[in-house]
Amino acid sequence: MCGIVGCASSNGPASGMLVEALKRLEYRGYDSAGVAILDPDSADPIHTVREVGKIRNLEAKLAGVEIRGRTGIGHTRWATHGRPSQENAHPHRDPTGAVVVVHNGIIENYLEIRRRLADQGAEFSSETDSEVIAHLIARNYDGDLAAAVRTSVRELAGAYAIAAIHKSEPDLVVGARQDSPLVVGIGDTSNYLASDVPALLPWTNQVLYLEDGQVVAVRPESVAVTDQDGNPVPGEVVEINWSPEQAEKGGFPHFMLKEIHEQPTTVSDALLGRLAVDDSEVVLDGLGLDADGLRNISRIALVACGTSWHAAQVGKFYLEQFARIDVTVEYASEFIYRDPVLDGNTLCIGISQSGETADTRAAMRRAKDEFDCHVLTICNVAGSSMAREADGVVLTHAGPEIGVASTKAFTGQLVCLLLFAVRLGQVRGTIPAETTRELCRGLRGLPQELEKVLRTSDAVKAVAEEYYESRDFLYIGRGVNYPIALEGALKLKEISYIHAEGYPAGEMKHGPIALIDDGMPILAIATQGRTYGTIAGNVEEARARGGKIIALVTPGDDRVAAAADQVLVVPRVHEALTPIVNIVPLQLLAYWTAVSRGTDVDQPRNLAKTVTVQ
Ligand code: M6R
Repeated sequence: MCGIVGCASSNGPASGMLVEALKRLEYRGYDSAGVAILDPDSADPIHTVREVGKIRNLEAKLAGVEIRGRTGIGHTRWATHGRPSQENAHPHRDPTGAVVVVHNGIIENYLEIRRRLADQGAEFSSETDSEVIAHLIARNYDGDLAAAVRTSVRELAGAYAIAAIHKSEPDLVVGARQDSPLVVGIGDTSNYLASDVPALLPWTNQVLYLEDGQVVAVRPESVAVTDQDGNPVPGEVVEINWSPEQAEKGGFPHFMLKEIHEQPTTVSDALLGRLAVDDSEVVLDGLGLDADGLRNISRIALVACGTSWHAAQVGKFYLEQFARIDVTVEYASEFIYRDPVLDGNTLCIGISQSGETADTRAAMRRAKDEFDCHVLTICNVAGSSMAREADGVVLTHAGPEIGVASTKAFTGQLVCLLLFAVRLGQVRGTIPAETTRELCRGLRGLPQELEKVLRTSDAVKAVAEEYYESRDFLYIGRGVNYPIALEGALKLKEISYIHAEGYPAGEMKHGPIALIDDGMPILAIATQGRTYGTIAGNVEEARARGGKIIALVTPGDDRVAAAADQVLVVPRVHEALTPIVNIVPLQLLAYWTAVSRGTDVDQPRNLAKTVTVQ
């Protein structure tokens, strides 16, 4: 939520870089944006420009304004305290205008601080929690901005990533983090700060991940990290192998469509080096557990949010079927407040695209600190908070995912969960060698099967054009494809704003069938597998009540196809792989429906890509 950037450059004005970098962070929030640039030659050395709405509005406001400063900070907002408005847009300043800050996170004790400062005569110009940070830094400033930031953050409770500038230190941006991500980009003659790596890719692929409690002083020629007491901390610079183009649309009208179409490649990348050449085994490094450690696991708790939670639901099937182990799937936001029964033999797996989701991070921490679980993460961002905090990491290798609706990261998660289930099944002796070979072969062939599904995009578009004005949608599936019904429904509601529900098809008779009336669209996942017969019956029941059936079937199907109004055909694959194939037409259906409705596909209302607040 919210994206922040900072730049200390020795060559050229900062404003262009800041706006470009903000555009690359716009998926984090987009209700207002702003920049503050330090120009020591100007009478008022800090020039702040803010605008409501998307970054293009800020850009339009900046057009024609010459701001020559080479040091600055920027922000794109996802409102938490105070409605989207110019006053609440960041950057925020102290009343004298000496200090300007941008902030991502939530300051839980801001009211307390605000009241105290107000009692001392301070006046505030926004409703945000963030403004108090500028006030505190200004009060604590004594010629050393980094020291003032260190002193000020001691007073803050909650989560923050901050970037601050001071009018008397024209080459300096100071950053600090606690429970919100912040990366430092290392360039040749300029250095940078950003909430996330994709923002920096056009300028550098050398980054340093700031840890909780650290403060960084970024100057054009140097980067100095300290702990909160001011002791220098040696930061590790890592090279990112994502290219700037991966974070661009590459000719597609939307990131989401591009990311859907990348799935043959991203699935293949997720498999790279993980299948033995003879398909006899799965090789997974980085688990932080050897074969004995894996054998000692007695149960698994999967924690995640949103789409990643749906991946966990599929993962439960994989782990139960192939590793014969007890698995629970928890919403991370609920897990934090429950009394789960876990112990040192429980493996907790946090699943996350971003590796930054606050609830999932908190759940993983709790599993580790309170229950002594071994904690693994399946995540897409190397160097993210979860990847650094977990005992083991399985990277999904999907590349940067920018569209707010998760697509390629989801299929990457499914591949990794299946690989892990097979690996665990091998060491536990619960998966027959022939099954391993079938799955490995099936996985190898998956990219080609996904290509075939993508070629049906026009057929899916035609279905979307038929139903895009519907008020409600039902998605039904069974077994390993029930979570795909949930995920299909989530995709549709996120980007088209149509009310959609996913149900296990067998539950229809227990209530939801009452919703069906003439013309209500029902998407039935009825591909071949062990639940085919029963779901075919459910389709016929829905049809008999006037529902319009859109059926996902495998080639040669006649029973469900006969009862359906529209049929989408997907290739026949091993049943365990059907979720990875079946989700793709549902992603496309959501996409084309949103396009028909004219909604903002990549940045749907009220959402943000990375949810770093609980
Ligand atoms: O980065 P994460 O996978 O942890 O994010 C979890 C959810 O916020 C995310 O999947 C969300 O539901 C997406 N918008 C779904 O498309």
